[in-house]
Amino acid sequence: MAIDQQGLYQTVTDMYTMVDRELGGRHQPFLNYGYDLRSGLAMEQQDAAFDIHAQLYHYVLRTVDVHGADVLEIGSGRGGGSYYIKQYLGAKKVVGIEYLPQNVSASRDSFGSVNNLEFYQGDASNLDIEVSSVDVVANIESSHCYPNLERFFEEVYRVLCNGGSFCYADLMTPDMNEQVKQITAMLPFELTKVEDITDGVVGGLTLANQRKLSLIHELDISEERKAWWINEWACVGTPIWQDLQKRDLMYMHYVFKKM
Ligand SMILES: C[S@@+](CC[C@H](N)C(=O)[O-])C[C@H]1O[C@@H](n2cnc3c(N)ncnc32)[C@H](O)[C@@H]1O
Repeated sequence: MAIDQQGLYQTVTDMYTMVDRELGGRHQPFLNYGYDLRSGLAMEQQDAAFDIHAQLYHYVLRTVDVHGADVLEIGSGRGGGSYYIKQYLGAKKVVGIEYLPQNVSASRDSFGSVNNLEFYQGDASNLDIEVSSVDVVANIESSHCYPNLERFFEEVYRVLCNGGSFCYADLMTPDMNEQVKQITAMLPFELTKVEDITDGVVGGLTLANQRKLSLIHELDISEERKAWWINEWACVGTPIWQDLQKRDLMYMHYVFKKM
């Protein structure tokens, strides 16, 4: 078991280290698949290029009052989601915890000047965060990387204050979805929302497709690596995109409240 866990940490490190290196310093603040909100989002001009990815955050946090809240994002990637929660949803403070040091650096480079928005390196399964200290936890498209889902949900429960909310969304197999249901049913959470948002995410993939392809073709990498990016980012027609259509992979969204 310990070897498998180390293996997954290494895979995540290798994969996102490569992604960071190949981006070559480009401003790419989101790594998620995006969401088609249909109504769109009113964003400042400098942020609007990434609106499809921000729309996933908007949708997943929409039922929770984030305004004035202390928010923890786990798996904050390159910082765009934590920035969206702070600047556009009006959180009092947002802390982003991210495993890959290079992504923490990219987040600080992009958003380090924003007040009450902080990024730290850390592990979702072992958070250096006080008990019952956070009003809202957000976790978007990251948990499928975690070797121990149970530990992760226990950590979320531990750091949330009583009555606090956990806004969660991820790409998963039907088996992983069953595991999520089983683990969360064992914790004193109230389930306030569960939704299969695969169609909205596939809509987001379609809307962002051209922009992602243009970026990938701009990268100074081999054709083989371009093909890898196209599949990993689930561009239209790729195996991952097809699995989402067939629901061999699904994109699930849950909101839990700590009782
Ligand atoms: C697909 S990206 C999504 C990032 C961000 N939430 C977004 O929507 O742009 C997944 C992120 O999870 C991070 N991650 C993977 N395992 C982690 C762990 N054990 N603890 C914290 N972050 C982790 C990865 O480094 C990566 O940045």
